Amino acid sequence: MNISLVGLGHIGKAAVGILNENHEYFKSRFNADIKVISVSDSRTTVYDKNGLNLDKVLMYKERKELDEIAEVIKPEEIYSLQSDIIVDMSPATKDGVAGMKMYTKSFESGKNIVTSNKAPLALHWKEIMESSMKNNRKILYESSVGGGVPLFNLNKYSLKSSKLLEFRGQVSSTINFVLNQMIAGVDFHEAVKTAQSMGIAETDYRDDTNGLDGARKTVIIANALLGMDYTLKDIAYEGIDDIKDINYMKNSGEIYRVLSHITGGSKPTVESKIFSIKQGDPVAAMDSLSMGYLERTDNNDDLTVFEKHDGPLETAAQVVNDILLLS
Ligand SMILES: NC(=O)c1ccc[n+]([C@@H]2O[C@H](COP(=O)([O-])OP(=O)(O)OC[C@H]3O[C@@H](n4cnc5c(N)ncnc54)[C@H](OP(=O)(O)O)[C@@H]3O)[C@@H](O)[C@H]2O)c1
Repeated sequence: MNISLVGLGHIGKAAVGILNENHEYFKSRFNADIKVISVSDSRTTVYDKNGLNLDKVLMYKERKELDEIAEVIKPEEIYSLQSDIIVDMSPATKDGVAGMKMYTKSFESGKNIVTSNKAPLALHWKEIMESSMKNNRKILYESSVGGGVPLFNLNKYSLKSSKLLEFRGQVSSTINFVLNQMIAGVDFHEAVKTAQSMGIAETDYRDDTNGLDGARKTVIIANALLGMDYTLKDIAYEGIDDIKDINYMKNSGEIYRVLSHITGGSKPTVESKIFSIKQGDPVAAMDSLSMGYLERTDNNDDLTVFEKHDGPLETAAQVVNDILLLS
């Protein structure tokens, strides 16, 4: 299996690390001999048809000398390489067009997609899914929502015989971490800085704190779980940039979280908002850095899935899991 990686930031580097350390294990355990034949960052794309040395990729990326390890090619040349999967770990763009084009071009070139980038999915779901079906190629996007928590694969493989009644998910760590810090008395900008240093905030944090990031994820969840074609304009969302009642929150003793909230049925609700959570609610068991969700179904009862802590490693683990599923 030959793959091309696009994006070598927090997630990309962690994914390279996992692929590097586990190459022999994946081969013996899953018969998956994964070769990374190209990597791209914002400036450089390098290619080796025999597979890049991943230790070198990490070392030379750190030194900003990626162009020294192998043949430098143009970014658009990745579509003509002998690869099976293109893995998108590049930043979300406002309109998601670059990602959408990357995916449709990949499908047309006979390649599958694994992506952690939610913008194309939240804004161009229909076009992407139609192109994937038309070209008989696959797209897996487990890591785009909820970091390391299994959500789409779990629903796809284990909950087919149930209908969704309600979903409440804490799927955005940055906004919840910052909100939690603010309720504890920390200044907004200080809390954002801490989140950035922990690698959980986007390069441009405003999409996190104004609620857009949570909204994008909510669209993807609704589309995947309800089989819909929503885009951002179909849902209600709010952020934490301009909270009026932070003092009320501080004094209330309750837990506040930004949650994706979806209800099924003939008139679905799809929103991403601040909720107050009562003690005893399963969602209250998650701290602000947890990722997880409560899913009420008709035949599988209420399921709660969460991980205590989420970060780039956990997200990258889902990227690699999707690569292994395709292999
Ligand atoms: N961080 C998380 O916990 C998390 C969780 C879930 C999903 N995601 C999503 O995963 C993606 C990556 O996140 P991240 O935290 O790794 O971001 P990041 O640290 O900002 O890294 C982005 C990487 O993409 C590269 N890049 C930028 N523009 C590019 C282009 N046009 N072509 C190729 N590469 C390009 C950057 O290059 P340079 O190195 O040259 O700047 C950088 O290596 C984002 O879409 C994000 O929303 C992140």
